[in-house]
Amino acid sequence: MAAALTSFRLWLLSCMAVISMAEAQHPDQFIYTNGFSHANLQLAGNAEIRPSGLLQLTNTSRLLTGHAFYPSPINFNTSSSSARSLSFSTNFVIAIVPESKEASSGHGVAFVISRSTDFSHADAIQYLGLVNESTNGDPSNHFVAVEFDTIFSLGTDTIDGNHVGIDLNGVKSYQSIASAYFSNEERKNISLDLKNGRPIQVWIDYDGRGQLLDVTLAPENSPKPNQPLLSTSIDLSDILMDTMYVGFSAATGSLESCRHYIMGWSFNRSGEAQSLDLSELPKLPRNGGRINTVLLISIIAAALLLLIIVGTTTYVYRRKKYEEVHEDWEKEYGPHRFSYKTLYIATKGFKDKQLLGFGGFGKVYKGTLPYTNEQIAVKKVSHESSQGMKEFVSEIVSMGRLRHKNLVRLLGYCRRKKELLLVYELMENGSLDQFLFSVDKPTLNWFQRFEIIRGVASALLYLHEEGEQVVLHRDIKASNVLLDSNLNGRLGDFGLARLHDRDSDLQTTRLVGTFGYMDPELTRTGKATKAADVFAFGAFLLEVACGRKPVEHNVALEDIFLVDVVKSCFKRDAIVDASDPRLQGNYVVEEMEKVLKLGLLCSNPRPDFRPTIKQVVQYLEGNGSLPDIPLDSNSKPQNIPFSILETLSQSTTEINISIETNLEFDSVTVGETGLFPTRT
Ligand SMILES: *[C@@H]1O[C@H](CO)[C@@H](O)[C@H](O)[C@H]1NC(C)=O
Ligand SMILES: *[C@@H]1O[C@H](CO)[C@@H](O)[C@H](O)[C@H]1NC(C)=O
Ligand SMILES: *[C@@H]1O[C@H](CO)[C@@H](O)[C@H](O)[C@H]1NC(C)=O
Ligand SMILES: *[C@@H]1O[C@H](CO)[C@@H](O)[C@H](O)[C@H]1NC(C)=O
Ligand SMILES: *[C@@H]1O[C@H](CO)[C@@H](O)[C@H](O)[C@H]1NC(C)=O
Repeated sequence: MAAALTSFRLWLLSCMAVISMAEAQHPDQFIYTNGFSHANLQLAGNAEIRPSGLLQLTNTSRLLTGHAFYPSPINFNTSSSSARSLSFSTNFVIAIVPESKEASSGHGVAFVISRSTDFSHADAIQYLGLVNESTNGDPSNHFVAVEFDTIFSLGTDTIDGNHVGIDLNGVKSYQSIASAYFSNEERKNISLDLKNGRPIQVWIDYDGRGQLLDVTLAPENSPKPNQPLLSTSIDLSDILMDTMYVGFSAATGSLESCRHYIMGWSFNRSGEAQSLDLSELPKLPRNGGRINTVLLISIIAAALLLLIIVGTTTYVYRRKKYEEVHEDWEKEYGPHRFSYKTLYIATKGFKDKQLLGFGGFGKVYKGTLPYTNEQIAVKKVSHESSQGMKEFVSEIVSMGRLRHKNLVRLLGYCRRKKELLLVYELMENGSLDQFLFSVDKPTLNWFQRFEIIRGVASALLYLHEEGEQVVLHRDIKASNVLLDSNLNGRLGDFGLARLHDRDSDLQTTRLVGTFGYMDPELTRTGKATKAADVFAFGAFLLEVACGRKPVEHNVALEDIFLVDVVKSCFKRDAIVDASDPRLQGNYVVEEMEKVLKLGLLCSNPRPDFRPTIKQVVQYLEGNGSLPDIPLDSNSKPQNIPFSILETLSQSTTEINISIETNLEFDSVTVGETGLFPTRT
């Protein structure tokens, strides 16, 4: 009796357990919060309930379909006039777990509301286990499906291999969208890989009155997003019938693929479906989870290694980036030395945007020194060897001590491998040649030009006569005269100058300069002298007064040399005819005459016939009258062969000349950077 009673109580208990799970729930709502172990679902195909309570729709074998439906139909009250009766809400958790990373993805899984639970005729390939080729789209199918499709199939209108779509009576998507979820925290859409092997939460809500279907996705550990992934206006009244079955369908396709799992499910016709608590759901099998402990450790180790590599590389890169060359002898020049990092920051990393131009031997960048906000110009001079560097640095440092209102100040330097950086104060208005020759700068009037000429002359006088040492500039030309904010001319670019003690023999061995400004004597002897600077200054005078370069290309032979043009005007007793036409005759005639004549005097091929810079300044200031100009002298280098003149008259680029020493123009080759006379 007692035993019978006990067995009766056991029977009663087990009945209650089953009732509490599903069957006894209200017919239009149910919830499976901790697996499907006692669920009595209608299973078909490969579908099975795993011992853990997981609903597995398919394993990874090929050509499988799996179906699982809630056992009793749901009443959709279509005959009722109230459209509200078509509403439903469901929440479930799916997991699509590939066998391996390389495995193909299968075709995916779908939530289905269908008139029938018989899908035995459906194909296991691209139709998600719902239809076959001939029944696809047939209105008599009466199903609506929300598909989580993981493969791109031809002919089914899907957009890619990872999307969510709504299907009506077939698998030609009514609407589909790439899988993603809205992150409430980050307030943006984040894409979601459906076959990442992890639980994915899904909410599907249909508002029958508004005929609006919302599909919302989220990864595990995320709350329900505030924005659905899909929100589609759709009328389901033709599809839904009085009694409909709800469930899931999946297919693996023609290759080894994925396991499709349903981990939990709630469905509600009379309100919003309760959200599932993921911590209560059955766990995914470990090997199915793919990310096992060994893998996790390897990932962490790899990440650490990467971090170390990136860190070291960055460190080495930064060291390399700011690397400088420092030698013991430089210690005394400490205050004149800039760190490369400072210059790098000042010029914003030597960006092209900061480029002011290409000076002799290097690019010039504009910059702003950190902290002091001082505006600077940085000239990058490339140099191959460090030979002579000691002398050079000592020269530039002493040049930094030169102070004259018409000299551009050298603030300091920095040395890198194969690179020397010279730091100058910035001249806002750039170089004079742009004002003389470029159409997009305003024309300077005569007053401004005369002031610039006087300024440059006084700077040259300072270099030649007034400093502690004689400084030869050696590259005077309009492009080396810079204009400050008040358009004062300031002589710049001492990069090529050499210093000479007053008493020492004024000779240099390497000859550098710009063709047209170069003393013909210099090209014969290779000796840099004050007179050679005066010659270049003469070319500069004519340049400023006439508004053209000393050597013009692409013109008639007799017009190549500016000095010849001015001289022919002078011979006609009309020297001011040579003045810059852009001045339109607006100049002081006596000053113009004086400048042009001084230009001719300084251009005398015989150095001893040229005035000194001191005399030049005196004439310019109006003290003393100009000597006569010899008419028969020829200022251009006597021995330039005709072929070079022809080259000049046809060439369109400025020509820089570099001559080793004491060379004659016996033969000349045209190279990328200009003419290189070579010994024969
Ligand atoms: C998948 O299930 C089918 C039948 O249910 C079985 O024959 C097959 O071996 C299973 N495949 C795997 C990979 O477990
Ligand atoms: C549907 O109709 C049944 C019986 O006709 C009723 O009990 C149920 O409340 C209705 N459901 C809805 C959601 O209107
Ligand atoms: C598709 O399914 C229908 C309905 O079950 C069946 O009559 C038809 O033969 C099937 N066609 C193919 C190509 O499998
Ligand atoms: C997220 O995606 C949905 C659907 O494409 C779109 O309507 C919504 O504007 C997107 N939200 C954001 C913040 O990009
Ligand atoms: C269905 O909705 C009603 C009303 O909002 C709610 O009380 C009930 O808990 C829901 N049931 C399920 C299973 O979601």
